[in-house]
Amino acid sequence: MVQRQVREYASSIEMSIAVAEFICEYANKCVEKQGSFTIGLSGGTTPARTYSLLAQEPYITIMPWEKTHVFFGDERFVPPDHPDNNFRMANEHLLTKVPIPRHNIFPIDTQVSSVQESAKRYDNLLKEFFDSCDSKPTSFDLILLGVGTDGHTASLFPSSPALKEKERWVVSAYAPEYAASRQRITLTFPAINMSRCALFLCGGKSKKNIIGAIINDEFDAKLHYPAACVDTLDEIIWFVDTEGF
Ligand code: 6PG
Repeated sequence: MVQRQVREYASSIEMSIAVAEFICEYANKCVEKQGSFTIGLSGGTTPARTYSLLAQEPYITIMPWEKTHVFFGDERFVPPDHPDNNFRMANEHLLTKVPIPRHNIFPIDTQVSSVQESAKRYDNLLKEFFDSCDSKPTSFDLILLGVGTDGHTASLFPSSPALKEKERWVVSAYAPEYAASRQRITLTFPAINMSRCALFLCGGKSKKNIIGAIINDEFDAKLHYPAACVDTLDEIIWFVDTEGF
């Protein structure tokens, strides 16, 4: 039975520090236990502060970068140097600033012929990587997720056909017109829910209602809000910045 927890913080920086501390502790426990640590990074804006912290003392020294493997929960189908690209954000705030071997970083390749081809390639990449691990059939040790005011997570938006995917770990998807970059590549629930632990990083006044509805399972949350359908193997922890609530 998955353990669910909510941890509230009075500001974004306090929440980001708590997330960085959690990631460091969890990563070292995984390396001690299995010799490696796999993490799926979230896009959007909220995680940027945590990523910057991980690239600074004390976290940059504590993290087992040599044994850490970095993946992405979703991507916008734009070039890697585009302002909306999630890999670009993580690369700038974190990956170019820490001693992680570049071959341990697995961006979603968006420089291919189509968004469908990009999703197919990442699906193959993940299956190949995790099939080679002793920890089959799980996926990531830790996955970072955000939540939108519409209850989406990764690029799994309400009413999207991607929500019904039962086999593939990665599919292409369309974001609604109000979201940045409409063509997306996203992990599906089969991939997300085979992770051991999910951390939701969220907060801010605009998200107070959606966070409450999902955490308290209100308004048939699982029917309407994809973030409410995350159901990992071990833990789901909500890190909530309540500033402005
Ligand atoms: C993306 C993210 C998405 C994000 C939420 C929250 O590619 O946009 O994966 O799921 O986490 O939209 O975004 P903010 O952190 O910017 O509020």
